[in-house]
Amino acid sequence: MVKLFVTCGSGLEPLLIEELTSFGFSNLKPGFRGVYVEAPDFSAVYKINYLSRIATRVLLPIANFKVWDKKTLYKGAAKVDWSQYLDVKKTFSIDFSVSHKAFKNTLFAAQVVKDALCDHFREKTGVRPNVKTSNPQVQFHLFIYNDWATISLDTSGAPLHKRGYRMEGGEAPLQENLAAALLTMAGYHKDEVLLDPCMGSGTFLVEAAMIATNTPPGYLREHWGFFSHPDFNQETWEAFKAQEDEKILPLAPKKLFGIDKNKAQVQKAMANTRLAGLHKGVAISEGDFRDFKPPVKPTMLIANPPYGKRLDEGDYLDRLYNELGDFYKAQAPAKGFILMPPDRSIGLKPTKRNVVFNGGIESRFNEYDLWDKED
Ligand SMILES: C[S@@+](CC[C@H](N)C(=O)[O-])C[C@H]1O[C@@H](n2cnc3c(N)ncnc32)[C@H](O)[C@@H]1O
Repeated sequence: MVKLFVTCGSGLEPLLIEELTSFGFSNLKPGFRGVYVEAPDFSAVYKINYLSRIATRVLLPIANFKVWDKKTLYKGAAKVDWSQYLDVKKTFSIDFSVSHKAFKNTLFAAQVVKDALCDHFREKTGVRPNVKTSNPQVQFHLFIYNDWATISLDTSGAPLHKRGYRMEGGEAPLQENLAAALLTMAGYHKDEVLLDPCMGSGTFLVEAAMIATNTPPGYLREHWGFFSHPDFNQETWEAFKAQEDEKILPLAPKKLFGIDKNKAQVQKAMANTRLAGLHKGVAISEGDFRDFKPPVKPTMLIANPPYGKRLDEGDYLDRLYNELGDFYKAQAPAKGFILMPPDRSIGLKPTKRNVVFNGGIESRFNEYDLWDKED
């Protein structure tokens, strides 16, 4: 029996439960920003890491104990047989999510666990492993809540939204697993003709292309945290991966369209689709959606227009959102979806308002039947 905690964005727990159920898991329980999974064996770790489009991390608890202060935290962490998961020559880091009055400085709690880990190795070998905060070889996770501490091995390593197709740098784009979650909420499937009129770096388009082609979201990743788990079996993992990769389908032409007026964003979208190996089936244009005539009538529109950071952007954004509403209406009878701040409107009445968090900002993912009456 393997017990896991699969983390996700706030509010996405029910969607993650649906996804995990579709993978064949039945022993699932929602938690805070994640889902508890009980599975028969370690292959669940491969499956969720490789196939979940919505999850952020797959944590495998290795210790769970009561904690009141620094001393009890150190004592609990000192009982962990760290050498089972970490070789002294490998780099590590401890990610944390701590809510406890004794650890107002949450980083301090992670440092206490790090000290216990290093002391364990010093006593055993005379040397200690090195901490590396970005891209460590082994990633641990500390969770403290309600006087309980859980230390887990992060079997994902880098968070799962890092699919491996994104050019780094520039403005913060939509996170890949949020884009996939929103496409799932929208009921996107491979037969839709999808248009993103404010595509930015093209996250919706790449995620849609991956869904349409059955491409596992982990397809481009080379490193996984579970490589360092004692139950990891290279042969079983490779056989599982090969079996999933065989299900990849070619991308049908003329199904995915995106436009953006910013040249740098258009270049990023092109680079991202190319890195994902999906550029041939995604039509990317540079220009203003207000002048855009889709070459094929879309059946679904999805967009994440600018949120606006400065006060003086208000009027311009009011206009932009209204014009986006007009553009959406002109594409009737397509289904329309927009991720936007709660206080904005496109001049159309949403049929559904979903509360989601985009980069920690409370947002709405609104759904529109485009033949609906105006507000
Ligand atoms: C928040 S970003 C979209 C981010 C995108 N979802 C991603 O993952 O990178 C909004 C985008 O809308 C684009 N945009 C704003 N006004 C536009 C217009 N009139 N026509 C086309 N694109 C526009 C901006 O250039 C920007 O790239």
